[in-house]
Amino acid sequence: MRVLVTGGAGYIGSHACQRLLRDGHHIVALDNLHRGHQQPMDLLKSQHPDSFDFIHSDLGDTETVLGALNAHNLDTVMHFGALAYVGESVEDPLWYYRNNISSAIGLLDACDQCHDGKGISRFIFSSSCATYGNPPEDKIPVPEDCPQSPTSPYGYTKLHMEHILKDYAQKRSIDDNPIALTMLRYFNVAGSDRSGMLGEDHTPETHLIPVAIEAALGKRESLSIFGTDYPTPDGTNVRDYVHVEDLIDAHVLAMHTVERGQVEAFNVGIGEGYSVRQILDSVKRVSGVDFPVHDAPRRAGDAIALFNNPTKIKSTLGWEAKITDIDEIVKTAYDWMKDHPDGY
Ligand code: UFG
Repeated sequence: MRVLVTGGAGYIGSHACQRLLRDGHHIVALDNLHRGHQQPMDLLKSQHPDSFDFIHSDLGDTETVLGALNAHNLDTVMHFGALAYVGESVEDPLWYYRNNISSAIGLLDACDQCHDGKGISRFIFSSSCATYGNPPEDKIPVPEDCPQSPTSPYGYTKLHMEHILKDYAQKRSIDDNPIALTMLRYFNVAGSDRSGMLGEDHTPETHLIPVAIEAALGKRESLSIFGTDYPTPDGTNVRDYVHVEDLIDAHVLAMHTVERGQVEAFNVGIGEGYSVRQILDSVKRVSGVDFPVHDAPRRAGDAIALFNNPTKIKSTLGWEAKITDIDEIVKTAYDWMKDHPDGY
């Protein structure tokens, strides 16, 4: 297939490009390099000179995106490009809405107008379990039909985008020109490509596993646990950590399985919840370093406990996480960060 990958220079987007190229697809990555990196783009281009192109652009630049969709005859869009920090979204919600919604509508305009107005055939959207907010007790582990009620502006940007995309898909069906729409609600994505080429390199870094690894590698003095009085077994937040390669598997399966006219949402998470303290124990085991940890107040916007009920994605797409051991997930992240102490 011929795929536009927005946010292709970012952590998850670059892993998607790598996998799709390995599978023999033609890929155009688009990224404004605000938080993405040129280096993985150069690495992928050197390995796949004939089937990979990188375009440095904002995804809201409809003309540029339209030009790319037409020039490369792209029929599928995987839309990863977004701001993705819960805490940051509370501090600067308008920036989040502008990036994650306004720019995405610019992208959708291009997806609608390309190929002489026929538009693209397939759209896969990176949604989030943050759209669920704090699920009611009888919805943990979380199934796809859990009420969606985000606790942060970030979560709202993802939920609003789901609605916008569903409305767009409906319009395409009314026009008798249906699109295949998949919304993948990620749980916490972690780890890096096991060949060691790609990794997670964020500035600022706020995600638990890389922050803890930075503490283990001596790049930070200590780590703060944001909230130790939650109603969970050890008082800290619980999350479901899915390996980035497994997450990309779900995209590939969706691309091949969901048909035009179908609108599907799937949760992507292993189905196992780990508390912040359990993650820190794992990073300490993997690194062999007992770095200092401090208790700190809760972080605004954090949900209490989120882990997946993977029944639907298993039965519909045949997806199952292959890397389920938390230490193995953490080790892939640790190995890359140890080998790349200054990131890319
Ligand atoms: N945490 C700490 N200390 C830190 C960093 C994080 O205690 O230094 C805690 C957080 O409070 C939270 C947990 O670790 O309870 C996980 O935090 P992350 O920042 O790693 O991840 P989030 O759960 O906030 O968000 C991530 C992605 C979102 C996605 C969400 C789904 O960034 O895009 O997972 O849960 F939507």
